[in-house]
Amino acid sequence: MKPLEVCILAAGLGTRMKSQRPKALQTLAGRTLLAHQLATISRLEPSRIHVVIGQGADQIRDAFLDDNRVHWILQEERLGTGHAMMQAMLHVSDNADVLIVLGDVPLISLDTMRRLTESGADLSVLSVLLDDPTGYGRIVRDDAGQVRRIVEQRDADDIERAIHEINTGVMSVSAGLLNEWLPRLDRNNEQNEYLLTDLVALANDEHRTVEGVLAENPLEVTGINSRQQLATLERDLQKKIADDLMAQGVQLADPMRLDVRGELLVGRDVFIDVGCVFEGRCELADGVTVGPYSVIRDSTIGPDSVIKSHAVLDGATVASECSVGPFARLRPEARIEEGAAIGNFVEIKKSVVGRGSKASHLAYLGDSTIGEDVNIGAGTITCNYDGVNKHQTNIGDGVFVGSNTSLVAPVSVADGASIGAGSVITTDVPSRSLAIGRGRQRNIEGWAARNK
Ligand code: UD1
Ligand code: CA
Repeated sequence: MKPLEVCILAAGLGTRMKSQRPKALQTLAGRTLLAHQLATISRLEPSRIHVVIGQGADQIRDAFLDDNRVHWILQEERLGTGHAMMQAMLHVSDNADVLIVLGDVPLISLDTMRRLTESGADLSVLSVLLDDPTGYGRIVRDDAGQVRRIVEQRDADDIERAIHEINTGVMSVSAGLLNEWLPRLDRNNEQNEYLLTDLVALANDEHRTVEGVLAENPLEVTGINSRQQLATLERDLQKKIADDLMAQGVQLADPMRLDVRGELLVGRDVFIDVGCVFEGRCELADGVTVGPYSVIRDSTIGPDSVIKSHAVLDGATVASECSVGPFARLRPEARIEEGAAIGNFVEIKKSVVGRGSKASHLAYLGDSTIGEDVNIGAGTITCNYDGVNKHQTNIGDGVFVGSNTSLVAPVSVADGASIGAGSVITTDVPSRSLAIGRGRQRNIEGWAARNK
C-alpha cells in the first residue's frame, strides 16, 4: 500500500474572524481548531502530517511546540488553496496518497476521512447537502451524476448558486496526479487565486475518475469563517456531547445549558444541573449530583457525592458521599476523602481532608493534612505562607478547631485536641489537650458613664 500523507491548509488570514489569533488557534469546545483535526487525523495513522501555515505562523508553532506529529510548511504569500498545496508538495513524497483537509473545518470524523481515502477514484472530494449553501463552493454534477467541477460562490451564476451540494474542502488524490495538475492551475477567477477546487475540472478534462463522497452529518463538515459560525458550531457540538452523555445514562436538567470543554467520563445516574462547565478531563462516578453553575476542571468525583451550586473545582479529587459547596473552591491537589463536607466560601489547596471531616463555612486550608472526623470552624485559616516559603499544617483525627483560628505553619495539632475560638496557634498542640491562644477579655464596669 502507498503511504498516506495528510496536508492541512491553515495559512489563511481568517479575516472575517476579526482576531489577533490565527484561525487555527480559535477554540471550539475548549480545544483549538487545529488540535481537533490533529486528534482525528492521528488516528488515521498517516506516515506524515503537514500543516501549511502563514498568517500567525509563529503563534501556531508555539501553541504546538510539544507536538512532534506535525511537519510545518510556511506559505509566505497566500495565493489560494491551490498555491498552498503547491508549497506542500515540495515536501510530500512522490509515491504517497494525499489527503487534503482545510484548517477551518474542524470536526470531520475518522470514518468520513477513511471513506475518502478508500474511495478508489483518481480524485475524490467530500461534499455535503446544506439547506443554506451560501459562501461554499458548489459541486456541479452532469446529468449522469458525475462530479464535473466545483465553482466557488463568487464565480457562480444563479443556476449554480441554487445547488445545495457543497464542497467541504476535503480531497483525496495521489501525489503523482497532484504534481501533474497543480502546475496547471491559473488565477483566472474572481479571487485572483490558485483554487484547489479547479483540480476537479482538470481531472475531468483528462477523463480521470472523480468521485463525490457525500458526508452524512453537516456538523462534521461545517467550515468556520466567522465568529457566528464558530458559535453556532459550538452549540451544535455541545448538543451532540449532551446527547452522548444522556445516552450513557446522565440526567441533564437542560441539554442546551451544559458546556463540556474536554473529556467528561460519567457513571450511571449522574445528574447535572444547568449552567455547568467541565474542562480538561473530569470523571463523575455513579450517582454524582452537580448543582447549577459549577465549573469543574481536571477533577474526579466519587460515587454519590454532591457538588452544590457555584462550586469551582480544579485538579481536585473528591471521594464518595462527600458534599462540596455551594460556593466552595477546590484548587489543585485538594483531596476530599469519603463523607467529608466542604461548605460555602471554603478554599482548599494542596491538602487532604480526611474521612467525615467538615469545613462548613469560610475557611482557607492550604498545604495541610487534616485527619478523620475533624471539625474546622468558620473563619479558620492555615497561614501557610511566610512571604518567602510555604509551610505545612498537620491536624490529627478527631480535632476540633474553633472558629476564627489562625494556624501559623509549620504547625501540628495532634489527635483529639481542641482549639478555642479566635486562637492564633504558633506551636504544636499535644493530643487531647485544649489550646487557647488569644488575648483575655476584660470588662470595664461603668465605662460609658465616665466617657460619654
Ligand atoms: C474553501 C473552498 C470551498 C469550500 C470551503 C469549505 C477553495 C478554493 N474553496 O472556501 O470550495 O466550500 O472551503 O469550507 O478551496 N488557505 C491557505 N492558503 C491560502 C488560502 C487558504 O492555507 O493561500 C487555507 C485557509 O487557512 C483555510 C483553508 O485554506 O483553512 C480554506 O481557505 P478559505 O479562504 O477559508 O476558503 P473558503 O472560501 O472557505
Ligand atoms: Ca473557509
